[in-house]
Amino acid sequence: MNDITQTVNPKSTYVPIVDTNDRFTYIQLNKFEREEDIKTILNSIYEVLHDWDKAPTLQNIKDRFDVGTRVILQYYDDKIIGWWWYSPFYASDLINKEYELPEGGVYSGNSYVIKKQAPRSAGTRLYSHSIGYVLTKYNTMYGWMDNWNIAPIKLCLKCGGEIKNWMK
Ligand SMILES: CC(C)(COP(=O)(O)OP(=O)(O)OC[C@H]1O[C@@H](n2cnc3c(N)ncnc32)[C@H](O)[C@@H]1OP(=O)(O)O)[C@@H](O)C(=O)NCCC(=O)NCCS
Repeated sequence: MNDITQTVNPKSTYVPIVDTNDRFTYIQLNKFEREEDIKTILNSIYEVLHDWDKAPTLQNIKDRFDVGTRVILQYYDDKIIGWWWYSPFYASDLINKEYELPEGGVYSGNSYVIKKQAPRSAGTRLYSHSIGYVLTKYNTMYGWMDNWNIAPIKLCLKCGGEIKNWMK
């Protein structure tokens, strides 16, 4: 696991990133809904991340909801621009549980922003909102990223997280 960075965001150190732009809105889905918006993001993923062999299918997205995984959708001027996923256990695909997290833990992975459409601050705003939201329900958020993938690592740290190994 030398090529990945593991992050931990405790509730006690959460730092919101303040911004006055009020054109962003968020909706959490507890079940498969807003199919057109979901397809818009998937199509962007297939186009932009075309060599990602584990990109989710529409069926994978439906299966995620069945196991308790949830998503926060991000909109800008009511247009879908991003998503942020979380599960109450560790599952790298957000479907098949690999192990339980410590009590009060939540796993997040697979965030995505449609860069072609989103304003520059979308990633920052997505992480700030979503981490803040899950930390009202859970005590600690766990994540991991490929070492080269600096943006999500920096965003977790900016929201009060730290680099710390937690994976079994
Ligand atoms: C993850 C994601 C949503 C983040 O959104 P984003 O718009 O790219 O984030 P930003 O561009 O604001 O980058 C966040 C920070 O990392 C910095 N950063 C980005 N790439 C960097 C690099 N190569 N080197 C140094 N810093 C970098 C940015 O400057 C920014 O820091 P700042 O706010 O201090 O300027 C987006 O990158 C994405 O959709 N990625 C594809 C899917 C993915 O990898 N998801 C994560 C799975 S763990």
